[in-house]
Amino acid sequence: MTNRQWIYAKPIEGKLATDNFKMRQTPVPTIRQGQTLVRNKVISLDPANRTYFKYQGYRPKLHVGEAMHGFGVGEVVETRDYRFKVGDIVHGDMEWADYSIINSYDRAEFFYKCTPGYSEEDLVGALGIPGLTALFGLEKLGPLRAGQTVVVAGATGACGTILGQLAKIAGCRVIGFGGGIEKCRWLVDELGFDDAVDYKGEDVAADLASKCPDGVDFFSDATGGIVTTATLPVMNKNAPWYHFGEITTYDDPANNRGILTGNGLTPELETLCDRQNLKPRFLLVFDYYCERIRAEKTLASYMKEGRLKAPKTVLEGLENLPSALVDGTFGSNRIGKLSVRIS
Ligand SMILES: NC(=O)c1ccc[n+]([C@@H]2O[C@H](COP(=O)([O-])OP(=O)(O)OC[C@H]3O[C@@H](n4cnc5c(N)ncnc54)[C@H](OP(=O)(O)O)[C@@H]3O)[C@@H](O)[C@H]2O)c1
Repeated sequence: MTNRQWIYAKPIEGKLATDNFKMRQTPVPTIRQGQTLVRNKVISLDPANRTYFKYQGYRPKLHVGEAMHGFGVGEVVETRDYRFKVGDIVHGDMEWADYSIINSYDRAEFFYKCTPGYSEEDLVGALGIPGLTALFGLEKLGPLRAGQTVVVAGATGACGTILGQLAKIAGCRVIGFGGGIEKCRWLVDELGFDDAVDYKGEDVAADLASKCPDGVDFFSDATGGIVTTATLPVMNKNAPWYHFGEITTYDDPANNRGILTGNGLTPELETLCDRQNLKPRFLLVFDYYCERIRAEKTLASYMKEGRLKAPKTVLEGLENLPSALVDGTFGSNRIGKLSVRIS
């Protein structure tokens, strides 16, 4: 039996491209004591995958020659770890491959047995890292009150689609940022947002300001860039600024962490933030993973009641992983959670 595996084969020069990856065939790994062999089923494509080559974040930095990784869900085919049994569906930091190995000492926040009964795409989406990032952000930085105005950056993506709908469930007025008029219309028509702003449009700041006459009470910021600079001036004093990602910096080799390291704002915006007491507040979803099962239940119950949609774009085939990352994670036509089905 062979294992097809994508490796990070060539250092990135300029923009990430599919030829930075190369597929190799290896024998299916043999497990040792404490290890579990998993047949990958669905691999999640996340903007953060692009940072793996740049620095150590929640996982070690990736070096040329190593197998590419991504969060995913797979089925246990062989195990020498008491926690699992053959047939279990598990979530983990998988290799971009047909098979992955889980070690008993791997981080329990990443590697866990999934709750049965949910689709594998939802386990990496609305009920996985993106859904929990949305829910924890609102719970830990809120609570939201009915009638408040919430602005959602990256509203068409995996986290933003869920966060915006949760804010609607809380009775808030929700404005989302989308890339292009069609995606903005989709946010309103399909997800029930109150309004949307095209971050690729002409005067983004004026467009947002006209849609937030009472200011902004909660800013969910996953992008930085124009979305952030347009939102800060309309935020109300002391309003929470949930800054849990900064997509606009991920492809820029000179800009590693942007706003959180004090690099992303003009002096004028810094003065404004001081005056209005606006502080970017980061939260790593895994910091709250001890609450995962409770949070998953909350999200699943909203979905069951028809109050929460789980938009997704699912591509097929291991061979399509590099193009899905290169074309699919930034500004493409897809919506919601992007994943690739492997088997
Ligand atoms: N802190 C944590 O624990 C944690 C956990 C999960 C995710 N994150 C971070 O959260 C962010 C969102 O992740 P996700 O999984 O929701 O991503 P995603 O599904 O890939 O969605 C990306 C979103 O960003 C928008 N976008 C892309 N380029 C943009 C730009 N230049 N300016 C403004 N918006 C842009 C896209 O809009 P269009 O497609 O409409 O153009 C889309 O709505 C990422 O930064 C990720 O790293 C953090």
